[in-house]
Amino acid sequence: MSLLYRHLLRPGFFWVDAETAHHAVLASLRFANGAARLAAAAGLPLATTPRGYQPVRLLGRLFPNRIGLAAGMDKNGVAPHIWAYLGLGFVEIGTVTWEPQAGNPRPRLFRLASDEALINRLGFPGLGAENVARRLDRLLRTNPGIPIGINIGASRSVVGDASAEARDQARTARQMGRQADFLVVNVSSPNTPGLRDQQAPERITRLVESVGSALVSLGLGLTTPAVLVKLSPDLDDATMIAVARAATAAGAAGFVAVNTTLNRKDLHSPLAAEAGGLSGPALHARATEVIGLLRRDLGQKAVLIGVGGVQDGRSARSLLEAGADLVELYTALVYQGPGLARRLAFEVGSTGFIRSLAAGET
Ligand SMILES: Cc1cc2nc3c(=O)[nH]c(=O)nc-3n(C[C@H](O)[C@H](O)[C@H](O)COP(=O)(O)O)c2cc1C
Repeated sequence: MSLLYRHLLRPGFFWVDAETAHHAVLASLRFANGAARLAAAAGLPLATTPRGYQPVRLLGRLFPNRIGLAAGMDKNGVAPHIWAYLGLGFVEIGTVTWEPQAGNPRPRLFRLASDEALINRLGFPGLGAENVARRLDRLLRTNPGIPIGINIGASRSVVGDASAEARDQARTARQMGRQADFLVVNVSSPNTPGLRDQQAPERITRLVESVGSALVSLGLGLTTPAVLVKLSPDLDDATMIAVARAATAAGAAGFVAVNTTLNRKDLHSPLAAEAGGLSGPALHARATEVIGLLRRDLGQKAVLIGVGGVQDGRSARSLLEAGADLVELYTALVYQGPGLARRLAFEVGSTGFIRSLAAGET
């Protein structure tokens, strides 16, 4: 698959602009999802567990493997089953906002091919929570066999007003809570001005409490989805810890680290000057550092999802070794193709060091 992707499919995708290619890929995955759903309905298992690999239980759910799809690829939840079929152990759909919104003007997605990186300034384009929930309600009647995380964020019109932000995201949480195995509150996208200011102890406390109460109000009991918070790599360590402690005290079960960065160190591509969030290998060192920092400060109880520049077994393992329970990726799938997911799950699954397995958790 990877040779086919590198030599045939990728040149085709890279020939058109990045966002057009993204929509073309999603349209074909959405089509393929129909077939994957039929297979799942017929009882064929979609989710894969590499041989010798123990699925892991976290957040009250069973993850067939530790490699997941990061938020942003399937913003509107069009293809939840296909990700399992591609070998991913979980997926984060979104970011979903309460209001349907168009996002920033195009062009807003750039390939930095010489750095195997992307810059995006999409700004949460999406169909809005009611539409995404309606679609997932229908699609998820067939179990995809992997946990579905839903990543939510503030609608652009409320950003800057702390109580309106909390109300808006609580509403989205209530709407999406029945479809989600876990919920990720995204306070770290650099592409909606002011959105990152939610990463302050008082504001994160109010936000996590509001979202948590909205989920409890659904009356799902033990299956109530856990709340995680997605953090920016651009926070300094002291603020990162202060925000993480406040969110934990307010009921967050863990963190997704990290989102894209505004930093532009060590890049070669002429497109590096484009505004927006950078993803890919340049993010990996900071992602690993942040995971280590959070694990040391929060102890073993917090669930940590490491993301940023995962592109091979080694980079996935370095996040796990730093303390991540699960790992996600996005940009490397664009450069290496969908076969990467299964390869990573196999490579990570066949090593013996994994933290919670070592601690006897299955
Ligand atoms: C095109 C694009 C869109 C993204 N959209 C979102 C998003 O909507 N919400 C979010 O939390 N993260 C979003 N991200 C960030 C990714 O989830 C991830 O944190 C980041 O890309 C680092 O991982 P990577 O280096 O494997 O790509 C997006 C990333 C890209 C490249």
